[in-house]
Amino acid sequence: MSQGGAILYGAPAPGLIEAPAGAVQVSPLIPGSTDIASLADGSLEEAVILAPPGTLERDHVLAHALRALEVGGALTAFAPQDKGGSRLKKALERFGCEVTEEARRHHRFCYITRPAALKELSEAIAAGAPRRVSATGLWSQPGVFSWDRIDPGTELLLDSLPELAGKGADLGGGLGVLGHKVLAGAAVTGLTVVEIDRRAVEACRRNLDDPRVEVIWADVRRAGDRLSGLDFVVMNPPFHDGGAEDRSLGVAFIRAASAALRTGGTCWLTANRHLPYESPLGEAFARVTLRAERGGYKIYEARK
Ligand SMILES: C[S@@+](CC[C@H](N)C(=O)[O-])C[C@H]1O[C@@H](n2cnc3c(N)ncnc32)[C@H](O)[C@@H]1O
Repeated sequence: MSQGGAILYGAPAPGLIEAPAGAVQVSPLIPGSTDIASLADGSLEEAVILAPPGTLERDHVLAHALRALEVGGALTAFAPQDKGGSRLKKALERFGCEVTEEARRHHRFCYITRPAALKELSEAIAAGAPRRVSATGLWSQPGVFSWDRIDPGTELLLDSLPELAGKGADLGGGLGVLGHKVLAGAAVTGLTVVEIDRRAVEACRRNLDDPRVEVIWADVRRAGDRLSGLDFVVMNPPFHDGGAEDRSLGVAFIRAASAALRTGGTCWLTANRHLPYESPLGEAFARVTLRAERGGYKIYEARK
C-alpha cells in the first residue's frame, strides 16, 4: 500500500522540472541517497526520473520506479534529446505504459499514470542488476564506468605501475581494477578507495575483499578530511560530470591527490592525451614525469 512517498532520480538543471516536495533522492551518483531497489512495491505516489543514458541502466531504473509506484501513481521520466530522450517513450511503452510526451528545452518529457498491469519489469530489473562479468572476472553493474571491460587508459596505468609501498588511495576507484593491482604489492599496508557511484562502491567492496582496504562512498572533492599523509595515490580521473565534459573535475582530483599525499609521496595518473593536465599537475606537485604514452592515453608520475 502507498505511504504517499515520492522519489527523485538525478539532479535536473535548475528550472527544468519541479521535484515533488520531500522527494527522496535515489540516484546512485549522489552519496547518501536511497537505493531504488530497496523501495517496497506500490509504496510511492510519485516518481521523477532523469533517465540515465545507458539502455540497460535506464530500463532497470524505470522498471524499479514502476514497481515501486502505486496503481494510479505518477511517473515523469525525462532526458536530454541527444542522450536517450528520443528513445524514452518507446522504453516506457515496452512495460505496457500509455505515455504522453512533451519536448521542452532540448529534453523529452514522458508522463505516465501507473496502470494496474505491467509487463517485462522483472526482465529489465534482472538485465540491469549487479553481476560478476565473465570478461573481467569482476563484480559490476550496467551504468558503472566501463562496467564490462577494462578501460584502455586504466590498462596503460596497470602496465606502468611500479610496486608501491605504504598506505595510499585510489581516487574514483570504480570497480577496483587499479586497487587490485596495487594490493598485489606485499609492502602496501592500506588502500582507501573513494568513489561517488554507489553501485561501483558495492561492487568494489566485493572485488577487493582484503583487510587493508576501505571503500568510501563519497565525492573526492569533499573527502579531504579522510585522506592525509599518504605515500601514494593512483587514479584515472573522470572528465565527465553528469554526462558533460568537465575538465575541472580532473583538476579537482589532481588537487585532492596532492593534498592527500605526504611530501615526497607519489601520484600515478592516467589521462586522455587531449586533456591539458600538465599545468595543474605542475602547480600541485614538485616534479612531474611522463612515464608512458599509448593509444591516446598518457601516464604521469607526480611527486609531491
Ligand atoms: C575514469 S573512471 C575510473 C574508474 C577506475 N579507477 C578504473 O580505472 O576503472 C572515474 C571514476 O570516478 C568516479 N567519479 C566521478 N566523479 C567522482 C567524484 N566527484 N568523486 C569520486 N568519484 C568520482 C566515477 O564514478 C568513475 O568510477
